Amino acid sequence: MFSCSLIRSVIGNPGGYAPSFCKTDTASRLVSASKQHGRGASHRTLNGCRRWISVYGYTQSKALVYSRYGEPKDVLQLHKHSISPPHGTQVNLRLLAAPLNPADVNQIQGVYPSKPPFQTTLGTREPSAVAGNEGAFEVIATGSGAKNLSKGDWVVMKQTGQGTWRTHAQMDESQLIKIENKEGLTPLQISTVSVNPVTAYRMIKDFCNWDWMRAGEEWLIQNGANSGVGRATIQLAREWGIKTINVVRERKTSEETEALKRELRDLGATAVVTEAELLSGEFRSTVHELTRKGKEPIRLALNCVGGKSATALAKTLAPGSHLVTYGAMSKQPVSLPSGLLIFKNLVFDGFWVSKWGDKNPQLKENTINDVLQLTRSGRFKDIPVEELKWSWDTDGSELVAGVQETLSGYRGGKGLLKYESQD
Ligand SMILES: NC(=O)c1ccc[n+]([C@@H]2O[C@H](COP(=O)([O-])OP(=O)(O)OC[C@H]3O[C@@H](n4cnc5c(N)ncnc54)[C@H](OP(=O)(O)O)[C@@H]3O)[C@@H](O)[C@H]2O)c1
Repeated sequence: MFSCSLIRSVIGNPGGYAPSFCKTDTASRLVSASKQHGRGASHRTLNGCRRWISVYGYTQSKALVYSRYGEPKDVLQLHKHSISPPHGTQVNLRLLAAPLNPADVNQIQGVYPSKPPFQTTLGTREPSAVAGNEGAFEVIATGSGAKNLSKGDWVVMKQTGQGTWRTHAQMDESQLIKIENKEGLTPLQISTVSVNPVTAYRMIKDFCNWDWMRAGEEWLIQNGANSGVGRATIQLAREWGIKTINVVRERKTSEETEALKRELRDLGATAVVTEAELLSGEFRSTVHELTRKGKEPIRLALNCVGGKSATALAKTLAPGSHLVTYGAMSKQPVSLPSGLLIFKNLVFDGFWVSKWGDKNPQLKENTINDVLQLTRSGRFKDIPVEELKWSWDTDGSELVAGVQETLSGYRGGKGLLKYESQD
């Protein structure tokens, strides 16, 4: 009989990720091992070496990894490896869905402050990191010491930087947040809940002392309103009685621009304007009119664009308000007229959900649950996505091309890796 310990020695890494090997490599090594141990040829023909290994509790996995920084098309590779049965408090996971966020690409480019360490645990030729920070996974096996998770549970990562663009993973249960009630929720909704909606939620709640007695009479303004964060902001603000002015970029035709404005108004945006309208001389009077001649103050600005757009947002703010910068899509610096600081005492903050989540793990979980509750009740709509179906046979180049699109702008939706296999 081909024992588990023999498999481990063939594969080489008990307890953790086994080193990788190419399909033929693995097949031939296992075939020779099986001959030694009297295994029949029929076992060798099972779907390459994949199911062959899972007979012994090993799971084969593919991961999008990088060993140096650069454009995804130049540095990202699909790497195959195997995962041992979980032990202790470990659990094995299967990917349901994972979004492709701008920060994920910045991380691969090496221009993002958090850099997952390059390691050899997956058996890549050079030390590597698995890309991706967010995703929904299903628990497919648990170690004997796992207390909080069971087979079939859906989970998200407790922290960013754990590498989510992979078909399977092995993690300690302490690294995961269990979705307590997955009823009525989809992989898309769960896979995109922990970064963008949490960012929007915390920025609205934590940077302004809203006067709840004045619900419906206070405003926030934001650029990048068509982004995942922007759409979450619109819906949460609507839920909490805060009016919103939302800035989007013009589309190719006025019909397309109008369609986008309508879409955001349908989500709950009070007003939607284009960047050109924001930067025009008339914007002051537009704001004056919207806010009942300034009687309804704009008390918070959320900026993920920078440059002139950020300056224009700041100019609309009531004295003592906050402008929170959380992204820099235009790559332009934020410049501020001194008068805004001297005479209006505006406050300029930054927010980074990764750091915030590390410091506030329980609050992060509560925030996720709040958003999922809204989602379940139909009050928080899905972001538009462009699905990249990922099955076992999907070519790495297809996935990498999808990742490369992430920062291209004017897209129909956010890229989403959707894993299709059931094992
Ligand atoms: N600090 C944090 O904790 C945190 C958390 C989440 C996200 N973020 C940041 O928030 C931003 C949005 O992220 P997301 O995941 O919500 O984005 P997303 O859904 O992938 O959408 C990207 C958005 O960026 C806009 N955009 C792209 N290039 C632009 C440019 N040159 N000028 C103006 N807008 C531009 C796009 O507008 P079009 O639709 O017009 O193309 C789109 O709305 C990113 O900068 C991201 O890094 C930060």
